[in-house]
Parts: sequence; structure tokens; C-alpha cells
Amino acid sequence: MKTLLLFLFVAVAAVYSQVPERCEAPSAFESRIGRLDTIRGYFVRGKMSYDARNMRTRIVEEVETREDKEYYDVLYLHNTQPGKEYRYNLKTKQCETRMLNNSFRRFEIPEDAHPFGEFTIGTKGQPGEGVDVTMWGGRTSMGGEFVGVFTLAGCVPVTDRYFRNESSFDNTDFYDVTLGISNASIFIPPHECMP
Ligand SMILES: *[C@@H]1O[C@H](CO)[C@@H](O)[C@H](O)[C@H]1NC(C)=O
Ligand SMILES: *[C@@H]1O[C@H](CO)[C@@H](O)[C@H](O)[C@H]1NC(C)=O
Ligand SMILES: *[C@@H]1O[C@H](CO)[C@@H](O)[C@H](O)[C@H]1NC(C)=O
Repeated sequence: MKTLLLFLFVAVAAVYSQVPERCEAPSAFESRIGRLDTIRGYFVRGKMSYDARNMRTRIVEEVETREDKEYYDVLYLHNTQPGKEYRYNLKTKQCETRMLNNSFRRFEIPEDAHPFGEFTIGTKGQPGEGVDVTMWGGRTSMGGEFVGVFTLAGCVPVTDRYFRNESSFDNTDFYDVTLGISNASIFIPPHECMP
């Protein structure tokens, strides 16, 4: 009995001291997102197409007609020199093209990220009632800090918090992720943005 208890204790200790292993997040996916925009000061929902290999992202926001706010369809192309942003205002139908001043940020676990542990979102009570995730954090190569949550199975991003500085941060939640890009034309700038 004593040996069995000791064995159980060692086994439990081994589980708790396990350091989560870094995993490789998908390089291309489509996802519904929720994002707290600290510059505009409100929460937006939308659809993101993300292609890390070619460093391009498009976010088409969902317009809430009951709210008198601005909503955008934004294409970020970091694979041009300099990078370009095509920001189409879904209400005014005006497009603004701007130079991008930041580098492409990947939703991934960098080499030097610190593991914050493994968790279950929801409950472990019954199969299907919870999702196992790992949490990571650290500094990004362009400065600022991040905290990222990824599913244990598949390494799919769940949450990304990126603190550019003390007054500016991005907080993105990912839902309904599908791997790959279903239609690469999504990365062609909208014709409204062409001169
Ligand atoms: C990048 O900087 C330039 C020059 O200051 C500015 O005109 C442009 O709007 C900036 N781009 C973004 C996306 O903020
Ligand atoms: C924080 O970052 C934002 C966005 O790049 C910038 O506009 C702002 O000036 C920065 N604030 C400080 C305190 O550095
Ligand atoms: C692919 O996307 C483009 C641009 O958004 C759109 O015009 C086209 O209809 C789409 N094709 C398919 C097969 O959905």
C-alpha cells in the first residue's frame, strides 16, 4: 500500500512538473475573431484570413447597424516593400491606402517564449465539455509583450494579447478556425482601393 501511494505521488508530481512543449501553430488559417480595438475603444467582430508564409492578413469586420460606429475591411500586405495597408471603410465606402510601419506579427510561440502552463477551457467533467490549451508569454522581436493561448491538439490560436506599450494593445480571440486559405483572391486589394 505504501509503495502504491508513493508511486501515485511520484506520478502526480511528474504530471504537474511537466513543462509544456512548444508547438508549431498553423501558418495559414481562416477564423472568426473578436477583437478589442484600443485605438477605437470598442470591440469588433469579424473574419480573419491569415497567411504567415506570405505575410498577409485580411480582416473583414462585421457591421453592427444599430451602432453608430466605423467598421472596416482591412488588408495588410507585409510582402511588399514597404508594407501596405488597404483600409476600406464599410460605411462610407471610402478606401485609404497607407504604408505599414510595423513588421508582420505571427500568431505563434516564439523560440524564447515562457511556458505559463497547461489548462482546460471549460471543464474536464465530461468529454467534449473542455478544451485543453497551453499558455505562453514573453517579449516579441519588435518590442512589447505578448501572451498567447493555443490548443494542445493542433496548436490552434485561441487568444492573443499583444501589448505594444502601456497604452496600446491588441486583444484577439479566435473562433471556428479552419486551416488553409479557401480563396487566395482575398489577398488582392479591393477594387475600391485602386486608383
Ligand atoms: C506610417 O507612417 C507614415 C509616415 O509617418 C504615415 O503616413 C502612415 O499613415 C503610417 N501608417 C500606418 C498604418 O499607421
Ligand atoms: C504606443 O503605441 C501606439 C501605437 O503604435 C503609439 O501611437 C503611441 O504613441 C505609443 N505610446 C507610447 C506611450 O509609447
Ligand atoms: C474569391 O474571392 C474573391 C474576392 O473576394 C471573390 O470575388 C470571388 O467570388 C471568390 N471566389 C469564390 C469561388 O468564392
